[in-house]
Amino acid sequence: MTENQDTLTITDNRTGRTYEVPVTDGAVRAMDLRQIKTHESDFGLLSYDPAFKNTANVRSRVTYIDGDVGILRYRGYPIEQLAESSSFLEVAYLLINGDLPDAGQLDQWVYDITHHTFIHENLKQFMDGFHHDAHPMGMLVSTVGALSTFYPEAKDLDEAEARYMQIVRLIAKMPTLAAFAYRHSIGMRYAYPDNDLSFAGNFLNMMWKTTELKYEPDPVLERAMDVLLILHADHEQNCSTTTMRAISSSDADPYSAAAGATAALYGPKHGGANEAVLRMLDRIGSVDKVPEAIQDAKDGELRLMGFGHRVYKTYDPRAKIVQQLAHEVFEVTGKNPLIDIAVELERIALEDEYFIERKLYPNVDFYSGIILKAIGIPTSMFTVIFATGRTPGWIAHWNEMISGAYKLGRPRQLYTGATKRDFVPLNQRT
Ligand code: CMC
Repeated sequence: MTENQDTLTITDNRTGRTYEVPVTDGAVRAMDLRQIKTHESDFGLLSYDPAFKNTANVRSRVTYIDGDVGILRYRGYPIEQLAESSSFLEVAYLLINGDLPDAGQLDQWVYDITHHTFIHENLKQFMDGFHHDAHPMGMLVSTVGALSTFYPEAKDLDEAEARYMQIVRLIAKMPTLAAFAYRHSIGMRYAYPDNDLSFAGNFLNMMWKTTELKYEPDPVLERAMDVLLILHADHEQNCSTTTMRAISSSDADPYSAAAGATAALYGPKHGGANEAVLRMLDRIGSVDKVPEAIQDAKDGELRLMGFGHRVYKTYDPRAKIVQQLAHEVFEVTGKNPLIDIAVELERIALEDEYFIERKLYPNVDFYSGIILKAIGIPTSMFTVIFATGRTPGWIAHWNEMISGAYKLGRPRQLYTGATKRDFVPLNQRT
């Protein structure tokens, strides 16, 4: 028993041969399977894992999730404590650097981010070229990628100073691009960043400033926005972060990689879910229609957006915080009627065998859209805000990867297409 504790014995029933492979940190290395062959020229056994449901791609020290009990920690700190006591920029520092900053480090970090929020005027003109009703996420994907053309030194991945500058710029310019995309979509002139405001306060300023000399954000809404950004800041190897790592593994610059990550986030199964939740609640329309919606979900006709998660098989800890936050926001904005539909949907779903059996619980997106809506943010901006919040997470993983040894990400496939066949000229094809 003790002798074989850290190994796995595999018997290949095709050949009768037995292999012993090491088990480290609860995992076997897929490359250890390659020695398992039926004959000399056999390529060796592959592991097949569509959608990486059971494959660890990295060793990471950034974020810990226990999906069975609903634990989320950034660098060891529980998300509940960070949401309660920290700020988004402090959390960004923590994620990227590994430890909380001291007062001097935090001041410098906030100063650096605050003083890189402006974008090049040419980039503004580039944004002007988008159609008047362009979706802000489409604009964000393109403009984040376009940043690489303004900072060619971003390719110098080995230069610590250049790397730091791209980190600062990405975090700092994301809300500017996001807010400018919104202003473009409603045909309003862009509102420039205000360095006197907090990260979240400045974002609200760039969204809504009109003729006033100085925009003053409501402190409750400013704090709510900051907490939402904290909650979205990282979530280990999710679809967009995996994209960030995959693109960066080719040594592409971080702006190009972040554009890819933003595109991955756009989809409704990932970051686009918050937008989809709002549309779903709008469609349901009233509390009495909720049982019908639940039945549609059980019949496979409706996917309950904001429900279910690849990792959480219990209540998403972020959803609990967002639900609480919603009530604080409503104190200022008045209650959004969609919250009643959401609460009823959650109540019925959590008692229903279909959802219990499949361990489908509300995720972060279920309530976040309702808060954003109450704050006055248009639905099309929800995922853009998610991207702004997730940027430090993408960067933390990128930085972690390129600070150590890494290889080009390149999975294998199981080829199921035609075997060799000879080309048939066009006039001989039937
Ligand atoms: N509504 C109804 N049924 C669902 C849902 C849902 N939201 N999610 C999963 N199921 C069912 C699914 O039909 C399947 O049932 P069956 O076993 O009978 O075929 C079972 O649950 C397992 O589903 P799955 O699609 O194999 O699970 P997954 O791990 O691949 O999917 C998910 C995870 C997040 C893509 C999925 O739950 C989903 O589409 N949820 C709605 C979209 C959403 O809220 N996404 C945001 C996730 S949190 C923020 C983020 O990561 O960006």
